[in-house]
Amino acid sequence: MKRIGVLTSGGDAPGMNAAVRAVVRKAIYHGVEVYGVYQGYQGLINGNIHQLEAGSVGDIIHRGGTILRSARCPEFKTQEGQQQALKQLDKHNIDGLVVIGGDGSYRGAKALTERGYPCVGVPGTIDNDIPGTEFTIGFDTALNTVIDAIDKIRDTASSHERTFIIEVMGRDAGDIALWAGLSGGAETIVIPEDPIDMESMKERLMKGLKRGKRHSIIIVAEGVMSGNELADKVKEMTGIETRVSVLGHMQRGGSPTARDRVLASRLGAKAVELLLANKGGRAVGIERNELVDYDIIEALSLPHKLDLDIYQLSKELSI
Ligand code: F6P
Repeated sequence: MKRIGVLTSGGDAPGMNAAVRAVVRKAIYHGVEVYGVYQGYQGLINGNIHQLEAGSVGDIIHRGGTILRSARCPEFKTQEGQQQALKQLDKHNIDGLVVIGGDGSYRGAKALTERGYPCVGVPGTIDNDIPGTEFTIGFDTALNTVIDAIDKIRDTASSHERTFIIEVMGRDAGDIALWAGLSGGAETIVIPEDPIDMESMKERLMKGLKRGKRHSIIIVAEGVMSGNELADKVKEMTGIETRVSVLGHMQRGGSPTARDRVLASRLGAKAVELLLANKGGRAVGIERNELVDYDIIEALSLPHKLDLDIYQLSKELSI
C-alpha cells in the first residue's frame, strides 16, 4: 500500500472528523500517502478526490460534521456506478479505501470488496446500529445532545405537570431512545425492536398519575411512529393531553464528546493498520473496550443486538 483513500458516507456523525484525522495521520506516520474522497460514494464516482497532508486535518478533531462532506448515493448501488468508482480509484493509483459510515456505507464497501478491491469499514453513525461493534462513532455525542434536551424539557414538564413525548432519531434501531431514556429518566421508551403495547403504556401512565407523578416523559424512536402519531394514540386511550418535541437533525450535530473522539481515533488508526497489513474486506469495531475486526461481508450478515440488560433496567427504574 503506497496510497490509500478515505471517505465519509451516509448520515454524518460527530467524530467523523476525528476518524478522518486518525486515518490521515496514521497513514502518513507510516509513509503512506492519503487521498480524501469528497461527498462520499458520489465523489468517488465523479472523481472528487484530493490529496490530504497532515496539516489538512489540523484543527478538526473538535468539529462535528465531516470536512469530506457526505451524501446518500443511489447511483453507487448500480453496476455502472461501482465500475466507475473502481476506475477512479485506479486512475488515482489508490490501493485501498477506508469507508467511514453506517450500514449503507458498509454495503458500498462490501460491493467493492466483492469486486476484489480492499476496503475497510469504520462504523460512523449516531444510530449505533452497525453489527460487529458495541458502539459507533457519534452515538455518545448524539446521546448527550438528547439528554440535554430531555433535561430542559423536564423542567417545563414538571412546572406545567405535563406529559411530553420526545421523538428521537433511529430509523431501524432503538439505541438512541433506549440509552437516552435510561439516562434521562424517561417513564416509557418506544423502540422498533419491541412491538408497542399501548395497553401497558396506558397502565404505566395511569399508575404514575395515581401515585402522584405530576409529569411524564415518553421517548419514541422515529422508526416506530412519529411523536405526533403517538400523542394522538395516548390521547385516544387515556385522555391525557401531551406536548410533542421532535429533536430531528440537531442530534447529528455538535462537537464530539471525548468518548467519541477517542473511539474515532482508535478505529481510524486500526483501519489503516489493517490496510497496511494487506487485510482488506474488514470492518473494525470495539467490544469490551478492545478493538476487533470482522470480515465485512460476515459483519453485515450479523444482526444488530439491542442491549437487553439496559432495556430491562430502564423498565425496572421507571416504575
Ligand atoms: O442514519 C442516521 C440517521 O440520522 C437516522 O437516524 C435518520 O433516520 C436518518 O439518518 C435521516 O436521514 P436524512 O438526513 O437523509 O434524512
